[in-house]
Amino acid sequence: MNKDDSTINKFYIKNYGCQMNVSDSEIVSSILLKNGYSLSENIKDAKIIFFNSCSIRKKSELTIINQLNKFEHLKKNGSLFGMIGCFSKEFKEYLLNKNKIDFFINPNSYKKIPNIISYRSYKKKNTDFFFDKKKESYDNIYPYKNLYEKKVTTFLSITRGCNNMCTFCIVPFTRGREISNNPDFIIKECTRLYTLGYKEITLLGQNVDSYKWKQKNNFVLNFSHLLEKLAKNIPDIRIRFTTSNPHDMSDDVIEIISKYENICNHIHLPVQSGSNKILKLMNRKYSKEDYLLLINKIRKIIPNCSISHDIMVGFCNEEEKDHLDTIDLMNKIKYNYGYMFSYSPRPGTYAYNKLVNNVPDHIKKRRLQEIINLQNKHSLYRMNKFLNKKQKVLIEGSSKKNNKHWYGRNQQNLVVVFPKNLYTKIGDLVSVKVKRVTSATLIGYMI
Ligand code: 5AD
Ligand code: SF4
Repeated sequence: MNKDDSTINKFYIKNYGCQMNVSDSEIVSSILLKNGYSLSENIKDAKIIFFNSCSIRKKSELTIINQLNKFEHLKKNGSLFGMIGCFSKEFKEYLLNKNKIDFFINPNSYKKIPNIISYRSYKKKNTDFFFDKKKESYDNIYPYKNLYEKKVTTFLSITRGCNNMCTFCIVPFTRGREISNNPDFIIKECTRLYTLGYKEITLLGQNVDSYKWKQKNNFVLNFSHLLEKLAKNIPDIRIRFTTSNPHDMSDDVIEIISKYENICNHIHLPVQSGSNKILKLMNRKYSKEDYLLLINKIRKIIPNCSISHDIMVGFCNEEEKDHLDTIDLMNKIKYNYGYMFSYSPRPGTYAYNKLVNNVPDHIKKRRLQEIINLQNKHSLYRMNKFLNKKQKVLIEGSSKKNNKHWYGRNQQNLVVVFPKNLYTKIGDLVSVKVKRVTSATLIGYMI
């Protein structure tokens, strides 16, 4: 058999962007494996290479362009290059002009991938696009899990797309409107994951709090109902979720988190800005005061809940006083950790079309550095509160820095590192006493 024959059905997926893309790659793999294709362990042995793209910021697109250049020789040698995931119209056009990709498939059209590949195999010219407008939930497709990785934590999408229309965000354009998965399928899938050996599942959605499913009796099952069902049905699995939009987070969800031990005490609550003027321009639908009230409520009902954020600096018309409002909000909340970005105009969005990207780069850079420094200070402050406290930690693997130490996370999603002993293994839930902290890690020993 020559090399071509042995690799003809082999595919490889390179992931960029968020966990949603990783989760989508598992769906694509599952569809392809069912259709007689096989997964290649190595990109250079694959006949079909998918780039699961992210267009959230210009920088994400630049990373992908670099990677496409790096692998160009594989395309020249006859591998088929397909782009899936999130890509802006402009990005797609750029790649088309440069002849970097053979076909583009949007997140609603993954079921067509096997047909597309066989079609492409004989039609070797022109680039094709498969852009279904119809929303696709992929209910009943069990995502492919690579069990050789021996992971104990995993992800599952429960909603796809987004209806919020934040003015800076490309997601509604790349992923379309929101759709929720069937709760029966979610429960079945979580049960399957548990029997496969996973100990922790993170439920994924652009906005998990807007999850809803109308049942036959017209009862609308919302996110708090779903969480409760999962917590009760699979009591031995840890449940996390991300992302919550402050505008949609209900009191019921907070109550359910506090009620069930297996729902982790951590909420990722992107605020984006502390300035009401900017929040309005972003179409975030809550004010700084609403957000602070929500945080107070969370902390009252779940006193040991950790809270993380996304904050963006340098959005259109952001003045120094708006930036100071963000700093003030951060000082009031003192988040456990967060993800911070500079505004990057995205073609097709309201902000790109109607607002002016008028904060100079050097100011964006300075403001970003200021909030990163402040967050580091707050992270350390929050970590110190865990000193001498006992933490329940799920062992995820060996610490990268020291093979003699385990690495895992506590309920609050904070990394904990501690010495191994002979009796523990990956997947065990152990008690650890914290003896030392850094702004990113809790360090201790098992008790
Ligand atoms: N520029 C910079 N950051 C962005 N995000 C979303 N869109 C943009 C953009 N155009 C950030 C937001 C969001 C996170 C996933 O990415 O903070 O919460
Ligand atoms: Fe994820 Fe958004 Fe990037 Fe798409 S654009 S991969 S949803 S971060």
